[in-house]
Amino acid sequence: MIAIDSSATSAALYSDRINPQWVNLLNVLQMNEQYAHCEGVELITTSGRRILDFLSGYCVHNAGHNHPAIIASLKEELDRRGPAMLQSHVPELAGELGGKLCDRAGGKLRKTFFCSSGSEGVEAAIKFSRAHTGRTGLLYCDGAFHGLTCGALSLMGDPFWKDGFGPMLEGCEAIPFDALEPLEKKLATKKFAAFIVEPIQGEAGIKLPSPGYLKAARDLCHRHGTLFVLDEVQTGLYRTGKFMAAHHDPGADADMVVLAKALSGGLIPVGALLMTDEIYKSVYTSLKRSIVHTSTFSENSMSMRAGLATLDVLESEHLGDQATRMGQLLRERLTHALKDFEMVKAIRGEGLMNGIEFTAPSKYILRVPFEAFMKIHPGMFGQVIVMRLFRDHGILTQMCGNNFLVLKAAPPLVADEQHINAFVKALSEVVALMHHSPSFWTEALGLAGRVLKNV
Ligand SMILES: Cc1ncc(COP(=O)(O)O)c(C=O)c1O
Repeated sequence: MIAIDSSATSAALYSDRINPQWVNLLNVLQMNEQYAHCEGVELITTSGRRILDFLSGYCVHNAGHNHPAIIASLKEELDRRGPAMLQSHVPELAGELGGKLCDRAGGKLRKTFFCSSGSEGVEAAIKFSRAHTGRTGLLYCDGAFHGLTCGALSLMGDPFWKDGFGPMLEGCEAIPFDALEPLEKKLATKKFAAFIVEPIQGEAGIKLPSPGYLKAARDLCHRHGTLFVLDEVQTGLYRTGKFMAAHHDPGADADMVVLAKALSGGLIPVGALLMTDEIYKSVYTSLKRSIVHTSTFSENSMSMRAGLATLDVLESEHLGDQATRMGQLLRERLTHALKDFEMVKAIRGEGLMNGIEFTAPSKYILRVPFEAFMKIHPGMFGQVIVMRLFRDHGILTQMCGNNFLVLKAAPPLVADEQHINAFVKALSEVVALMHHSPSFWTEALGLAGRVLKNV
């Protein structure tokens, strides 16, 4: 019999043995809840509180929390007692899932390398693009987030993530997102194996490119012998309405695509790198090199089953269409509700990947506290919004990781009009408080105090 710890004991054990700083942060933000049950868009705490998830574990829970059909498939797979990961046979389900992903991604994508995370997919893309082109340079965009393993981290500019971890990969250079001229200048040097780009930048602040940018970037890459690689880790699997966000820009066919997060159904880690036959052949060149790039958990039957079941749920429930409709409704209602507030700069997104951007106020009475909190920590202002939404309104979300002025609104794709209305109402009340009530700023002071006590 497995002993179940009380929540206090598990938190203490977690602090003792895992990461006490994470527990401190959740406490400081007053977000340290214990969850008993999660379903669809809802998270139910052990005390019976109902929280709406507008973060989706950073775009993992596209199919909704604990979807019964995905759970049933995983149970069935376990009951089958088949070869879960022998590393010595041809896994039954991998070909089917790889084929389905490539067919949906389109273009010349035909082969798949499976892995267990987005970072691992990006690492494979780095190695494969080098193998295919014989070049070592890698181009990425300012503000990008590609993962925290050393290769992926080399494709991110923000020093916050890199400081203290020593030298990163050589030959990685940044260019502005959504700008073709700097891209072409770099490509002309013929140093670059790949240009790796998120079709909509997530952590940079839900930044959408101009129409035609991705296709033009791809054409430039091809002209200069550089591979065009899409990081669809957050944007893929119908998050933005289509299977991939790049499908909003016809003709932006990639040489490689990284998928992860939502492919797992929120239950089992799965990542995938989709590639052309030509790229596959440059890596797995002979019998001897048939496992030259692999990973223990790659193609394991539970991950493959989760991927197939998730794809089936997303498509049979038409969750891409739902994301398009609900996203539009969310942006319309937010735009209407927040139109008179000077600190709301922009509301943007595609499908259910949305951002609300805040800006410094011009009114003196608001500018003084805003600037003071920016000085204490640039993330402080946003965290007060996040904390208030969570504590006072039961809404879970976060600011973007590389842009502390943009709040995310990315619920599971099963979100309906009621969920959208609840979010709009909650955010409107927090924004009204921010503009009209000193209590918002007093709250920020309290947060600053707790942070200082914990540093
Ligand atoms: C766009 C993007 N790429 C890659 C990653 C890395 O994925 P993982 O955390 O699964 O390694 C992330 C993670 O948030 C991401 O947002």
